[in-house]
This record gives sequence, structure tokens and C-alpha cells, in this order.
Amino acid sequence: MTLSLPKPLTLSDFVRMKQCGEKISCLTAYDASFSAVMDRVGIDIMLVGDSLGMTIQGHLSTLPVTVADMVYHTRCVTHVKQRAFVIADLPFMSYPTPVIAANNAAKLMQSGGAQMVKIEGAQVEIVRSLVNQGIPVCGHLGLLPQHINQLGGYRVQGKEPKEAEQMLNAAKQLEQSGAALLVLECVPAKLAKEISLQLAIPVIGIGAGIDCDGQILVLHDVLNIGLAKRPRFSKDFLQQAGSIEAAISAFHHAVKQSQFPTLDHSF
Ligand code: KIV
Repeated sequence: MTLSLPKPLTLSDFVRMKQCGEKISCLTAYDASFSAVMDRVGIDIMLVGDSLGMTIQGHLSTLPVTVADMVYHTRCVTHVKQRAFVIADLPFMSYPTPVIAANNAAKLMQSGGAQMVKIEGAQVEIVRSLVNQGIPVCGHLGLLPQHINQLGGYRVQGKEPKEAEQMLNAAKQLEQSGAALLVLECVPAKLAKEISLQLAIPVIGIGAGIDCDGQILVLHDVLNIGLAKRPRFSKDFLQQAGSIEAAISAFHHAVKQSQFPTLDHSF
């Protein structure tokens, strides 16, 4: 008897999903045990987010997270995963120039095993340079946790027409410079819908309404075990599910069936 291993997902699978209207399910993952559970239930993308600064390390923001921390957790996740696509965050101040960005992205990919890196903001030149060197990049617009000291709080972004237009333009520029996925965090649902419609690349929302091509949440919010207050856009899936694996599976199916997020989780 031969055991068939699940076929690993690639970026072209996500483009195909967008084109045929299949929602993409994503969760943050930081270790091997959860990586295995997420793979078993069929989560499409695992993001080793620098949110680990808060969820794992107990800091008040993502700023203290280092590249070495990210490599360590990315390796834990990729070590056991079979099917899901793994993205790793380039942490705060790890991409100030194209050369430094490339060196750090190489560490996440070569030592960590990440298949893509995510960077915050309209970093068009950095994205172009990474992509030219064969490094797949996921953009991240809207609320940028690495800019928290400038933003002054975790608030919805893009509410004013001028801000909304700037975000749409930034999204288009990131796509043109080669970004293959885009995360939108804490963005009005109407704006996120418009950006998702105008881009050919898949758009993954967190607090960005139902019309994005996929949804991501922080694992600790799905299980309601975070240290900070759970954000309004997230949902405790453990309460009704009864077990960790059932909660992650409930999140996955709610995303696939467009049952999450509801208006209560949107802006
Ligand atoms: O670090 C993280 O977990 C993230 C998600 C909130 C998208 O960037």
C-alpha cells in the first residue's frame, strides 16, 4: 500500500482560487504542533506573523521581534507542514534597504523554510528588488502594527476618502512591483472589496470584511487565549467547537463557506 502525501499548495493555487471564487483560509502559526493541526484541517496559508511578539513572547507590540526569532518559529512551523503554504513576516527594521531586506528574507527562506515573506507598508522598491531576486512577497496595507508608535493606536485605516484613495493606489503599486499576495488589516469592508476587485492578486483580509479573497486571523484570537483584549473583528471559535482542532476546523469552514466575517466583525 502506498500512502499519498497531500500536494503542497503554491501561489498559482491561490490565483486559481481567487478566479473561481474559492475563499482562501489563513491563520497565524508559530510552532510545530499547531502547524500539524492546521495542515490536518486544511488551512491554506500559515503566516508566521511577528504577532508572535505579543502571543508568544508577551510584549505589548511586534517591535521587539528579531529576524532570529522569526527564523526559529518559521523553522518550527515548516519542519512538519505538508500542504499549507508558509509565509513569514520580515520584522520591524529588517528591511530598511533592498540589500538588508534580501539578506533577511534569505534567512527566513533558507534557514526557516518560508515560501514567501511579508512586509508592511507601500515599500514598492523593496518589493521590486526582492521579487527580482526570486523572493515571493506578500504586501500588507491598512493597519501596520510595526508603525504603532506613529499611528498611536490599533485603529481602522482608510476611512477618509483621501486615505482610501492612497491605499488603493498603494495596493496597485505593490501589485505592479511584483507582490503576489496582499494582506489588508482593519480596513472598511467597502474599500477592501474595491481593492480586491481591482487587483488580480489575491487579497487576504483581517478586519476587512467578507469580500476579500481570503481571511486571516491570529491563532490566539480564534482560541481566545490572547493576553490582550480580543479585537472586535476576530471570533472565538473554541467556545462552541469544544476542542482546539475543531475550533481551527470551524474557522476554516466558516471562511470557505463565506460565513466569516459577518457584519459584526467588519467596519
Ligand atoms: O503578524 C501577524 O500576525 C500579522 C497578521 C495580523 C496579518 O501580520
